[in-house]
Amino acid sequence: EPYEIAILVGSLRKGSFSRRLGDALVKLAPDTLTFKYVEIGDLPYYNEDLETETPPAAWTTFRDAIAPVDGVLFITPEYNRSIPAVLKNAVDVGSRPYAAGVLNGKPAAIAAQTPGTMGAFGAAHHLRQMLVALGMPTMAHPELYIAKTHELVTEDGNVTNEGTEAFLKSFVDALAVWVGKHKQS
Ligand code: FNR
Repeated sequence: EPYEIAILVGSLRKGSFSRRLGDALVKLAPDTLTFKYVEIGDLPYYNEDLETETPPAAWTTFRDAIAPVDGVLFITPEYNRSIPAVLKNAVDVGSRPYAAGVLNGKPAAIAAQTPGTMGAFGAAHHLRQMLVALGMPTMAHPELYIAKTHELVTEDGNVTNEGTEAFLKSFVDALAVWVGKHKQS
């Protein structure tokens, strides 16, 4: 049985470079992993008043999609040196109800990208700290910071140079090992 990985993309725009990077990682992954993108764009802002017997339907859809997976791959761009609010909101929705969040404890990995130059380090760094609060064992190595994503990954999710391709492959190979070690029973 392959491990199933949920991909959360921190960008809503059509043509997102983050999603391109996701497509590249899916293509390069070993057959011990399967993937599904879980959409986060229509989750109402987290509001504790809505955390009732019947929370917003979009929260429930999101939580039901995350609950069965073995691991979570976050692909984040950087907005003002942190993660986009839409991704933070998804983390918050997935972290609740208290002590029963579907994200809690699941193994994770972070891929950060920018069409700019600094590899979205600030976003990755903030996100990693959030996942500590959720008890998510988050792959430490290799770290994935991609700069100039638009030059390195095509619209179809193909990688334009061999070094980057080999690196992305090493990342998803390591993710498979990581999830095998840390997945919840
Ligand atoms: C950005 N961008 C950006 N880039 C970066 O490297 N560091 C940053 O801090 C920021 N800040 C930032 C703030 C806001 C509000 C926007 C809209 C954009 C540029 C960003 O990397 C670029 O828009 C990417 O294309 C976003 O990723 P997607 O949408 O292509 O996945």
